[in-house]
Amino acid sequence: MMLFCKHSTFLTPESSKSRAARGGGRCILILRPASRSLLETGGSGLILFYFSGTGNSRYVARAFCERYPAQCRSIEEHADFDALIAAGGDTVGFCYPVYGSSVPQLMREFVQAHAEALSGKRFVIFCTQLIFSGDGAHALTAFLPQGESNVIYAEHFRMPNNLCNVPVFPVTNGPKNDRLLRLAQAKVRRAAAEISRGIVRRRGFSRASVRLGRSQSVFWPGVESAAAKDVWIDESCVRCGLCARICPTGNLSLGENGVEQAGRCMVCYRCVNACPKSAITVLIHAKPRRRYLGVSGNFIRDAEEDAGRTEI
Ligand SMILES: Cc1cc2nc3c(=O)[nH]c(=O)nc-3n(C[C@H](O)[C@H](O)[C@H](O)COP(=O)(O)O)c2cc1C
Ligand code: SF4
Ligand code: SF4
Repeated sequence: MMLFCKHSTFLTPESSKSRAARGGGRCILILRPASRSLLETGGSGLILFYFSGTGNSRYVARAFCERYPAQCRSIEEHADFDALIAAGGDTVGFCYPVYGSSVPQLMREFVQAHAEALSGKRFVIFCTQLIFSGDGAHALTAFLPQGESNVIYAEHFRMPNNLCNVPVFPVTNGPKNDRLLRLAQAKVRRAAAEISRGIVRRRGFSRASVRLGRSQSVFWPGVESAAAKDVWIDESCVRCGLCARICPTGNLSLGENGVEQAGRCMVCYRCVNACPKSAITVLIHAKPRRRYLGVSGNFIRDAEEDAGRTEI
């Protein structure tokens, strides 16, 4: 994971280009006047889909939908998403955690599976991250029907750490996350206000951001495929079945010999943070010292609630 200069600047597309041409490039943001069509509609008719391994992206998506007239839906619900997209107006939003400057597999598959319904829509993209992704929001455009052209708003949100077994990134819960959440709420308020006013902001779309993102994302396909069947369970497992119940890809099941895997891990870290015995690890096989509980303090309940929804 890389760190990135925090001196982001607001540039018009022209000044962004000329800076890039000069070999500079602090720009991670493009802010430009609203497109005519967005102003005409006032940005109405938005449905926001989220995937959240441990609750951070759910928090951002829901906070936004409290401030902006938008429907908020988890992609883990049992729903007719094509019908929801068709009925949901002209703008579709996505919110997801970034993994190695890349989009989670479940979100990629969701966008690809509903490409036809998404065709011709305008897009809002929110990406949550621990420190830095470069172009975490832009990364989704590789899977959108019209690439980056119809994206009217993209933003990154710094959120608490869920990589609970990587010692350099300590896990914090409860009031220790208050400051980060206040900052995220402020960004949500700004996003809602700017989208309403037709302001187009595209975080992570500058050439410098994309280049920085690629320096991480180039490794992600290899990491993802290595991790797919690399779940480890240690002897402290009490076979409670929780990990199998909450795994978003159905990768885990409880068999006669304990927890079994089907080769479909997408490294969301949900099971690693949920296991009451810290018995399960993926990708990095160190026992977590402290589990991340999610913004609500109970991301397990939230994820189960989302997956249980069965509206249209
Ligand atoms: C496998 C994995 C890879 C991650 N890679 C990054 C990264 O490249 N940059 C970053 O800032 N955060 C990274 N994170 C942190 C998450 O993106 C961040 O905590 C996110 O808000 C979690 O959202 P969720 O609770 O909705 O799953 C990673 C987390 C995981 C589990
Ligand atoms: S949640 Fe933990 S203890 Fe329960 S079955 Fe899974 S690995 Fe075992
Ligand atoms: S096995 Fe664990 S980390 Fe992998 S997809 Fe399932 S819940 Fe997520």
